[in-house]
Amino acid sequence: MKWKNKELKSYLNFAMEWAKGAGDILYRGFNQTKQINYKGRIDPVTQFDLQSERFIISRIEKTFPEYSILAEEGDTIENNSSFCWVIDPLDGTVNYAHKIPIYTVSIALQYNRQTIVGVVYDPERDELFSAAKGLGAFLNRKRIKVSPQKKLERSLLATGFAYNIGTARKNNLGMFARMMKQAQAVRRLGSAALDLCWVATGRFDGFWEYYLHPWDTAAAILMVEEAGGKVSKISGGSYSIFDREILASNGHIHLAMREVLTRKIKKRK
Ligand code: IPD
Ligand code: CA
Ligand code: CA
Repeated sequence: MKWKNKELKSYLNFAMEWAKGAGDILYRGFNQTKQINYKGRIDPVTQFDLQSERFIISRIEKTFPEYSILAEEGDTIENNSSFCWVIDPLDGTVNYAHKIPIYTVSIALQYNRQTIVGVVYDPERDELFSAAKGLGAFLNRKRIKVSPQKKLERSLLATGFAYNIGTARKNNLGMFARMMKQAQAVRRLGSAALDLCWVATGRFDGFWEYYLHPWDTAAAILMVEEAGGKVSKISGGSYSIFDREILASNGHIHLAMREVLTRKIKKRK
């Protein structure tokens, strides 16, 4: 499908406005007492996840009532439309619940399961990441690019660990240990959407994680691709937001990361 710039920009403007509005709700709630419920053993949800999601959904329902919606906290609407808004109203809930100021709002618009518009907002730094298919990636409306780093040994990477870490077959602990020995360092911020956006800005050189959900990555993968980076499955092959493994990088270190993660490590001299 060939998109008109005007059409994409109009979707992008809506998503940016909603992400900022939802981010303001989270920012105002940050120091307030949280009512925390658990969706699993260690998987929290606060009243602010729900308020943020309600805010975004109400805007979508008003503006695009015929579009489908896939939202983390359950406001999912199947409308038999080729368009689907994919929403994480608060990415980084564990940080947020502990008053660690690293969390984001993520909003993507997919057409036939391909992201055409993605917005991630970081309220604490007032950083708004945005991308539209073929139109580039931006941070606060300034174009961004992935890093030029070619050596894994000089690369700063990020990863994360899923809530099913206690039982998961791929708990990422062995891979984390291996990568720590090969890269410059590996960070764990606690917001996958932000990790990916930071790959897009060149702050990180690469990122990988298992068992993420569609709403964690839908917006930010477009940021990485439009910033000149590469996104795939860890095992190789193209990545869809419904896959349970993701590898994103500046492109240059992609193969080297895959080799370490899949144990095909070249001996260091
Ligand atoms: C989580 C964050 C975290 C990642 C987890 C996600 P949530 O999302 O993105 O960085 O490691 O796997 O589930 O629960 O804070 O929206
Ligand atoms: Ca999330
Ligand atoms: Ca969330």
